[in-house]
Amino acid sequence: MNEKLFALDEENIYEHLFERYSQLNGNIEGIKQDLGIHDKTQNVIEVDIQDTKVEKKKRKKKVRSEIYNFVIEQSLSSLGSSNDNNKNSTTGYVLWSTTLIFLNWLLYGESDVCKLIRNGEAIQGNEVLKFDGLFQKNDSGKKGIIELGSGISGILSIVMSNHVDYYVATDQNSILNKLKFNIRQNILQLNMKKCKSKSLNFNTKEEEEDEQRGVDLQDSRQRKQIVQLETLPLDWETFQLLKNNQPLVNSNSKYPILYQLKEDCSSIVILAMDVIYNDYLIKPFLDTVKELFQFYQLKSKIQISCIVGLQLRAQDMIEMFLETIICEYQFVVHHVSDSMLAQTRCGVYLLSPQTK
Ligand SMILES: C[S@@+](CC[C@H](N)C(=O)[O-])C[C@H]1O[C@@H](n2cnc3c(N)ncnc32)[C@H](O)[C@@H]1O
Repeated sequence: MNEKLFALDEENIYEHLFERYSQLNGNIEGIKQDLGIHDKTQNVIEVDIQDTKVEKKKRKKKVRSEIYNFVIEQSLSSLGSSNDNNKNSTTGYVLWSTTLIFLNWLLYGESDVCKLIRNGEAIQGNEVLKFDGLFQKNDSGKKGIIELGSGISGILSIVMSNHVDYYVATDQNSILNKLKFNIRQNILQLNMKKCKSKSLNFNTKEEEEDEQRGVDLQDSRQRKQIVQLETLPLDWETFQLLKNNQPLVNSNSKYPILYQLKEDCSSIVILAMDVIYNDYLIKPFLDTVKELFQFYQLKSKIQISCIVGLQLRAQDMIEMFLETIICEYQFVVHHVSDSMLAQTRCGVYLLSPQTK
């Protein structure tokens, strides 16, 4: 299999989907046929993330031993409830497999395309696509991640906070209490950095002292390798930062952390796992991505892109999603073609704004 970023355009979408769904149909035994809920039998679940190939690697003495053990509280009753959250989506009350498939691949994948998504580089094709990677590099500027449709688990928030300077986990307001609960409950898994957070109400002790003494937070962040991890209510149906290509007057007070990223980061990646499961979500979701692309590109050189992990359910919906991105929104789209992902029901796509 050709493991690479494969550029999609209006002509090759259909061939791409035909091949991908043929792959899925040809592996009915090996790939789960369910809807994609990680575990719909219990409200409290344990989730371990570890490299299954680690023993072999240990023998070869090249271990990357990032291991996570999460205990997640989900709400099966709210998932099916129409009263609980009648205006909003209730899918976020449980953990979905796409998040775990994506993370497992990102942390332990060994293909060149996986390393590229992890560490980034300029990709030469017909035009140069700059993707700075999801993991922070020592020699570059600050990196931020904005997750759309995080759901309640907080797993991606915690794992990725070990690797970046800012992480903003967003979802509809009703989801956030449980998300905060799960992040707090598993915060010890965020052990590669010190974590500060206004929304979760924790400052590192040293940072509080620095703040009292008036020490520059930028300096202190660099010295102590701090990540700022926030949760933020962000509904795609109502989200707006700009009007006539200018920041809206109130958006700064409504979304201060998004402004902070604009000030501090040189590279921002939007992450979204299993957020397209209904036709009517396509436009509000893509409007949100477009708004964020425009906001962060306004008078700045921030590198921004978006990685979407899709659970490949109905083919016509995925087709509509890709068609809409390319034909209406005119983002640059690449399929992440990788043999490890090909053995799953997860499709990973990299969306970037058109280069000016
Ligand atoms: C299938 S769940 C996936 C949750 C999580 N990413 C995971 O993998 O476990 C889809 C997520 O999209 C969110 N969502 C749906 N409509 C939304 C909207 N209009 N604005 C923001 N989030 C939305 C849901 O609340 C839910 O958390």
